[in-house]
Amino acid sequence: MSIGEPIPRIDGSIKVTGAARYTADLRAPNMLHGVFVTAPLPAGRVIAFDKGHALAEPGVVRVLTHEDMPRPKTTIAGPPFAHSFLPLQGDEIRHEGQPIAMVLGETLEAAEAGARKVDVRYAPTTAKTPVAPLWSELDRAALAPKNTGYFFFEPEFSKGNADQNLALAKKRVEAVYSQPSRHHNPMEPSAVLALWEGDALTLYASTQHVYGVQMGLAALFAIPPERVRVISKHTGGAFGVKGLIWPQEALAALAAKIVSRPVRVVLSRANMYSFLGYQPRIVQKIGLGADEKGALAAVTHDVVNLTSVTDDFIEFATEASKSLYATRSMRLSQRAERAHVAMPTAMRAPVEGPGLWALESGMDELAVDLGVDPLDLRLANYADADPATGAPWSSKKLREAYEEGARLFGWRTRPPAPQRDGDWVIGHGMASCLMGTFRFPSHAHVTLRRDGTAVIEAGTQDIGTGTLTILPQIVADVLGLLSSKVKLTLGDTKLPEAGPTYGSSSTMGVGAAVLAAAQDVRGKLARLANLLPEEAAMVDGRISRTGATEGLPIADVMDQAGESEIVGTGAFDPAQHGAGYSMRTFGAVFVEVGVDRALGLLRLRRVVGSYSVGRIVNPRTARAQLIGGIVWGWGMAAMEQSPFDSALGRFLSKNLAGVAIPVNADIPSDIAIHCVEEIDEKAGPIGGKGIGELGATGVAAAVANAVFHAVGKRIRDLPITPEKLVA
Ligand code: MOS
Repeated sequence: MSIGEPIPRIDGSIKVTGAARYTADLRAPNMLHGVFVTAPLPAGRVIAFDKGHALAEPGVVRVLTHEDMPRPKTTIAGPPFAHSFLPLQGDEIRHEGQPIAMVLGETLEAAEAGARKVDVRYAPTTAKTPVAPLWSELDRAALAPKNTGYFFFEPEFSKGNADQNLALAKKRVEAVYSQPSRHHNPMEPSAVLALWEGDALTLYASTQHVYGVQMGLAALFAIPPERVRVISKHTGGAFGVKGLIWPQEALAALAAKIVSRPVRVVLSRANMYSFLGYQPRIVQKIGLGADEKGALAAVTHDVVNLTSVTDDFIEFATEASKSLYATRSMRLSQRAERAHVAMPTAMRAPVEGPGLWALESGMDELAVDLGVDPLDLRLANYADADPATGAPWSSKKLREAYEEGARLFGWRTRPPAPQRDGDWVIGHGMASCLMGTFRFPSHAHVTLRRDGTAVIEAGTQDIGTGTLTILPQIVADVLGLLSSKVKLTLGDTKLPEAGPTYGSSSTMGVGAAVLAAAQDVRGKLARLANLLPEEAAMVDGRISRTGATEGLPIADVMDQAGESEIVGTGAFDPAQHGAGYSMRTFGAVFVEVGVDRALGLLRLRRVVGSYSVGRIVNPRTARAQLIGGIVWGWGMAAMEQSPFDSALGRFLSKNLAGVAIPVNADIPSDIAIHCVEEIDEKAGPIGGKGIGELGATGVAAAVANAVFHAVGKRIRDLPITPEKLVA
């Protein structure tokens, strides 16, 4: 019994003592440091480079530009690439901050000094800058998206005649909700170390997907994937910005090839705001039509998000409206606003995260209009089946989550009128939470040794979410070991292929492969012990017939068979699980805020998050993930934005000093997490689904709804900053 135990993070001590080695900590003999020169203007062409001053800097070895770089053998488009163009392949500038030269130096300081001295002449052209976030202007500027590989859902969907039903509805809410672009801000800036031996590449990278990087770079160099080894032992936070291949990975590998020396590139914080992804500005128009009792007759949802001029990244916020509530009719549409900006990308929690900001704000407005409790409005429109397709849910215990969340919060007994606490006006708000269920094929090996230790091998990644703890727990559970006896080796394409560490998918996917591999080990050991695999159980280092009290020690069984270890293999294929079912995770978040009307201050006072996510492998790490999501959601609600300077065509701030993100002082200790008892057998053999991102959904709307309750002001533009509250 190890699944379900609240084991502390196995990797906790190496993370807090600095023993964990990240890509930027690695060195290779004879290694060069790469530093990018980036374009200072959003659109135009590079006319000429003068490399003289840069090359005169002591320690500068090369200055690489598009004139030096080899052309890739294939065109790139769609994942695993973050966008379809590679910088340093031509003279065109498509956004401010685009890499246009790469300076290689014997030291980081030399490369940085050289990068400052590359003289570049530009021919600017008129840049398309983002238009004002007004719906009327966006409506004119936005275009139907084109699919260059970044369509994860359908941009248009309709059921029934939603526009007509909306027009005829007794009660109607139509409103526009907006949120600014914001960056992921992981603690570790992206880093890469590229080494060639002949035509074999080894790439150390901070990534959420070693196999994706392998596949992409193999295609780029037109070499077999086996010639590309990608290693990522620890990634220092990601939140989506390390999910795909960004320029530094390809360019470091190209540079290392040209100079025949290893090249390490550690992005500066400014680089992270220059040519890496971010969650784009999203503006959403919601229409909700209901009868007098609040039953939804129509949901319309129109979304416009910012994207680059090269590719249409679409933030599929409409998926929220597609899945959450029962309604007779819906019409959903996604469009893109193209501008000379860096390519956006998925950010925790993508899709439903932005979608629920709009939908759950709109539902609150409808509840106020109807004069019903916001929770009752949700219950009145509870979707017992997938509202878009009619398919049954793989599992859904949202009713239970609402009920227990409301009980823990005291929702039903809250004072109807806002209360006062000194200068603070206290408001209460709630929202539903929802997240898609992403499942990826995965493989794993488990080796059980004579001494009662086991090793898991899986080409998954540690991005700080608990993988190093969860997967050993699964093996320990099957093999009757303490989880401290199980070691996990990950982050290497020499290991069995596993899926990406995004989409809150790891426990479900690679966890299932690990479970199968452990069961394979147990089955093999059972045969050695003359037991049928199905009837074998392993407890405390012994194997026995299920239910029997006495078992044989692992070592004795192996000794008798002359084996020193037993290797099991396992795989997870999502196609074999849950066909015909719709899968989501669900929840409800209840918040209490304080508003200081005179100063416009907003404080989070307490939160209850209650979730329906299937089986929980580790309640401690699950709780930490869900709290992390809520904190992330508070950042979205009240703090985070990356303001864009239209005159310069760039993000205004390029360091953390200019970016407000939640710190401990912003977050109350009073955050309660509840997960409904549930096993989702359709989603996969683990019975669990994703939790990493679900907690971040719904929070912004719950906060805005609480602000409305407190002071009667409906904020429809994030983040909820003081000037919006005093205005
Ligand atoms: Mo997350 S945006 O799926 O890394």
